Amino acid sequence: KTAAIVGCPFSGGQPKPGVDQGPINLVEAGLISQLSELGWQVKFDGHHQFEEIKASDDPPIGVLKNPRLVSRVTQSVAEVVSSHVKRGELPVTLGGDHSLAMGTISGTLSQYPDACVIWVDAHADINTPETTDSGNIHGMPVSFLLGLGSKIPEFSWVKPLLKPGQLVYIGLRDVDAGEKRILRENGIKSFSMHEVDKYGIGKVVEMALDHVNPQRDRPIHLSFDVDALDPSVAPSTGTPVRGGLTFREGHYICEAIYETGLLIALDLMEVNPSLADDVSVQQTVAVGCSLVRSALGEVLL
Ligand code: ARG
Ligand code: MN
Ligand code: MN
Ligand code: MN
Repeated sequence: KTAAIVGCPFSGGQPKPGVDQGPINLVEAGLISQLSELGWQVKFDGHHQFEEIKASDDPPIGVLKNPRLVSRVTQSVAEVVSSHVKRGELPVTLGGDHSLAMGTISGTLSQYPDACVIWVDAHADINTPETTDSGNIHGMPVSFLLGLGSKIPEFSWVKPLLKPGQLVYIGLRDVDAGEKRILRENGIKSFSMHEVDKYGIGKVVEMALDHVNPQRDRPIHLSFDVDALDPSVAPSTGTPVRGGLTFREGHYICEAIYETGLLIALDLMEVNPSLADDVSVQQTVAVGCSLVRSALGEVLL
């Protein structure tokens, strides 16, 4: 079994500097050797070098910020993830901001069109160019993958490969009004923190899998935004929202998905080591590494 680390030092999907350092800190904290110790063959040949586009050459399209840059970066990530999945390697994409998932999920679905996506996040990241308040593309990747909203020529490479029934959310608690309408109109299943409180995380993961993967036979892409965790657990992130998953709830999700034996791609996004003090940064990076280890089988004895 081989895991391929796809380090993506990229921050163009949102305005706060520092999230591009996330993958660098995760690797420096020892993630590669930790995964090797779990028995994985780990491929890592350095973080991805993305071409740069001067801000002056990338003016907003409508309200979308850095559109050409985000499009080119995520397209190259899609190609890399697709090639790993094709070879039977598990891509572990380290962000970077969550716009990157436009690339990772496109890459996965290009090889396994029937794969399901489990999106763990405080946010739904399903704004369209019409509904977004911020213009930050990290709040929009899911709508692009579903083919919702107006078509932006710069993003024509993104194919609407994802169907609403292939997607489920866990951990939501900060969803914009326009996003709520999109979730409702498209019948997209979500388990917010309300359901986590009501049913417990064990039941929630079971119900989430029953929805997207009733026969437990479809490959799984797990896209984990570290801000799904409570800010007391993962403080160093750009858009923290209180009332999040506990340390154990976050890890339980990863463990339970590993246990299915169906995980074919993993994202860990939005670790920003320049936000908060040194202790908080270390804590967030450590929890990021340990989520990845859990998704790759750490607790299974
Ligand atoms: N809903 C807000 C927006 O669209 C926040 C999105 C936060 N996304 C994230 N990947 N942290 O701007
Ligand atoms: Mn988020
Ligand atoms: Mn908003
Ligand atoms: Mn997100």
